[in-house]
Amino acid sequence: TGGSVLSVSREQLALHNKKTDAWIAIGGIVYNITEYMSFHPGGEEELMRGVGIDATKLFNQIHPWVNYESLLKACIIGRLENNVTPIN
Ligand code: HEM
Repeated sequence: TGGSVLSVSREQLALHNKKTDAWIAIGGIVYNITEYMSFHPGGEEELMRGVGIDATKLFNQIHPWVNYESLLKACIIGRLENNVTPIN
């Protein structure tokens, strides 16, 4: 509520769990990665493991060096509601 950045609930996030409609939360930010899907170096099936959920831990377990904030800056949907997940 309030502010100009959309607040996305986990329920809303979970609705976007398909390759053709893929949202992901990392570091408290929700991204629409539908366009990025086919470019992921680890493949679509790997990326799908994090779709529709808060994938911060999963992402950082696999490749903490990847600069997702830069890669996905054009794909921001909003903030994850009530986020308490640390970056690492
Ligand atoms: C590579 C999984 C999300 C960017 C990989 C690889 C895996 C993987 C297994 C290694 C592929 C290989 O070396 O053969 C996942 C999973 C994700 C996820 C499970 C779900 C959270 C993302 C996101 C981005 C991303 C959101 C970028 C916005 C990359 C990049 C590489 C990579 C750049 C190559 C890294 C390198 O070679 O140093 N991913 N990924 N991944 N992924 Fe992801």
